[in-house]
Amino acid sequence: MAEFTLPKNSKIQPGKHYPAKDAKKPRTFRVYRWSPDDGQNPRIDTYEVDLAACGPMVLDALLKIKNEIDPTLTLRRSCREGICGSCAMNIDGTNTLACTRSIEECASGDVKIYPLPHMPVVKDLVPDLTHFYAQFASIRPWLRTQSAAPDRERLQSPEDRKKLDGLYECILCACCSTSCPSYWWNGDRYLGPAILLQAYRWIVDSRDEDTGARLDDLEDPFKLYRCHTIMNCARTCPKGLNPAKAIAEIKKLLVARRSA
Ligand code: SF4
Ligand code: SF4
Ligand code: FES
Repeated sequence: MAEFTLPKNSKIQPGKHYPAKDAKKPRTFRVYRWSPDDGQNPRIDTYEVDLAACGPMVLDALLKIKNEIDPTLTLRRSCREGICGSCAMNIDGTNTLACTRSIEECASGDVKIYPLPHMPVVKDLVPDLTHFYAQFASIRPWLRTQSAAPDRERLQSPEDRKKLDGLYECILCACCSTSCPSYWWNGDRYLGPAILLQAYRWIVDSRDEDTGARLDDLEDPFKLYRCHTIMNCARTCPKGLNPAKAIAEIKKLLVARRSA
């Protein structure tokens, strides 16, 4: 196996190596490790996993590592089927979900696993999403109405319901926002693709009655206009959504409103 080397000026150190004895189908996983508790620099630990005794997904390998090799490895996961968004991480250079990324899909050679980029790390593969969730809360992501509540539910035509397709499926995994260069550099004020897609989801909901205020809130040089259509967001979304398109639609609505 080729020696793993890091750039000379990297603060990330090579870490521990855990060989797999008698593995029928070995594959190596290089995993980012960092803990606030030990005062050490980040390191890359190397785990050999026997794929002959492992499920097919990267999450299966990580859980096998945690359960059988190194219980200190820390990661988030819940649904293990692409619904909760909690296992988002950078695998093989791409932000994606560990539970839906198959090991075979990863490029040949070692599988490199890091936390989502440009986010503070809580520990190992767990990013701190506090700011991301605060941004989500800032768009007040619920149905806002002024009219009297109907006896039963607020109705929506099939055509209007269809406008939510490609939006409602967002699981807030943050893969898109953490792949967006504009969000890396201006994430304190730019809302980023995930939150803007969510904002648009409420703007186009025919049952919502606060569209004007929602657009007012977004008419801001930083919250919205830091998107430069680089499209990393659409390329990386593990649910196949297109946040850049949602952002473009918001901009169109703002232009239409100005010229109305
Ligand atoms: S748009 Fe896609 S990548 Fe972005 S948060 Fe939603 S599901 Fe995740
Ligand atoms: S299209 Fe906009 S939101 Fe998407 S990655 Fe590029 S700058 Fe970020
Ligand atoms: S564990 Fe829920 S999306 Fe991966």
